[in-house]
Amino acid sequence: MEKLPLHVGLIMDGNGRWAKKRLMPRSFGHNAGMNRVIALAEHAQKRGIKYLTVYALSSENLSRPKEELEGLYSLFRKYFSENVKKLYMQNAAVKIIGDMHGLPQDVAKLLKEGEENSPQNATFTMVFAINYGSRGEIARAARLAAESGGEITEKTLEKYLYTGGLPSPDLIIRTGGELRLSNFLLYQAAYAELYFTDVLFPDFTEKEFDKALNEFSHRERRFGKV
Ligand code: FPP
Repeated sequence: MEKLPLHVGLIMDGNGRWAKKRLMPRSFGHNAGMNRVIALAEHAQKRGIKYLTVYALSSENLSRPKEELEGLYSLFRKYFSENVKKLYMQNAAVKIIGDMHGLPQDVAKLLKEGEENSPQNATFTMVFAINYGSRGEIARAARLAAESGGEITEKTLEKYLYTGGLPSPDLIIRTGGELRLSNFLLYQAAYAELYFTDVLFPDFTEKEFDKALNEFSHRERRFGKV
């Protein structure tokens, strides 16, 4: 691949529709989605990508029916107590972005431990956006920057975003056919290349991921210059 993104963002849409097509509950789709996350993390790392940010739960998703949310929390419990070890073995670190206060306490604790137990000197970082929304993130960063005193510049603001210290995404992929960002990394996506596909997330294979990388490698990025 000629040009490779350093950081890829992934909006994992279409789990519900995928399950419905199979006359199964939405949680079945989310479970299949989690298995995709596991496989794609390994694949992205193999491809040489350094950061993969997955939108696992938006702040707006918190108003979904209790049953669906409980299903997602159970997946987080499973992933962060079992599957995360596989990431560590691959020398990958975990980072969480989002508001942990709105989550069940035990889930928030597992997520925090997931970050803390990450290997030092990791060569790949998996970022999980959970109870995440860009508008809330920007408002919070502005508040924190104001409280710290001094001038608010792009640099100070960026420091207070949940993503502080991470490079901006070069490529954002959205599965499931919708053409929008849905409050995902709005500040950070200023110069990201966007890739949309109709493929529902549980069907988003490594091969589909490579199609997005291939398309990215052919895009010309000028960053506002000529
Ligand atoms: C949107 O699809 C997807 C979500 C709200 C949840 C995404 C979560 C996962 C893929 C599980 C990830 C698990 C871990 C541990 C990272 P949708 O349900 O809105 O789909 P629809 O548009 O077809 O209804």
